[in-house]
Amino acid sequence: MNLSTQFLQQKIDQRIQSHTLRELSPQNTRVDFCSNDYLGFARDKNLQNRIQIEINNLPNYKNGATGSRLLSGNYTYTEQLEQWIADFHAAESGLIFNSGYDANLGLLSSLAQRNDTIIMDEWIHASMIDGARLSNAKRLKFNHNCVIDLEKKLKLATGLIYVCIESVYSMDGDLAPIVEIVEICKKYKAHLIVDEAHATGVLGAQGQGLVQEFNLQNEIFARTITFGKALGCHGAVVLGSHKLRQFLINFARSFIYTTALPSHTSCL
Ligand SMILES: Cc1ncc(COP(=O)(O)O)c(C=O)c1O
Repeated sequence: MNLSTQFLQQKIDQRIQSHTLRELSPQNTRVDFCSNDYLGFARDKNLQNRIQIEINNLPNYKNGATGSRLLSGNYTYTEQLEQWIADFHAAESGLIFNSGYDANLGLLSSLAQRNDTIIMDEWIHASMIDGARLSNAKRLKFNHNCVIDLEKKLKLATGLIYVCIESVYSMDGDLAPIVEIVEICKKYKAHLIVDEAHATGVLGAQGQGLVQEFNLQNEIFARTITFGKALGCHGAVVLGSHKLRQFLINFARSFIYTTALPSHTSCL
């Protein structure tokens, strides 16, 4: 074995020894207790038919977007959809990313600068952690859902402050104490970012998420809504101000340097 193969084997062996080896297994037909398709939309024939009809009616439909949104991959349909989603979520504006992972990565890595501070719940999703790592900002984490610990971390923050939470944490299904977190963020002039991946389609009067359930949309700096979970599809949108959208179009590398989603994803 050469050195690099030895390294790969060593890392895999560590996983085997700690019983954490990951393996891909083919889709199975057993009862579903683990997928993100909470509402059964991914397998809904009615919805499939409606998507097909929508695709057939799209002018100049292409199988692929053909490029980055900034080059050949932007479509009126996508922009209309973004505004429709923003209106549904009572937000000023929305920008679609290829996945929730890309959305959080692009958002955090572009926003926070060297002297700024990102404070995250210790159970936050990997996409936020990776986005924060890619930024040059100071990173702090607070004990899961603990507003007292969050306040301690806010006292240590410098520059612009971004606090990142999920509204529903998938491992235990518990909710963030969002009303208290909004209050404490206001006190310290921190910008609150809420990942609604697991609340979308599930919480709020029409499935808009936890933020709207508490009518807090005007207090939140940015929200990530993902389409791959209850909506049974793929992609995500970052909701926020028109200025935030314009900023992300200019600086979020996971938006800029990637081929856009094809229009049929937007048909959902
Ligand atoms: C809280 C949270 N945010 C973001 C993501 C990433 O979303 P996507 O699967 O669309 O990349 C996930 C899950 O995958 C998630 O659980």
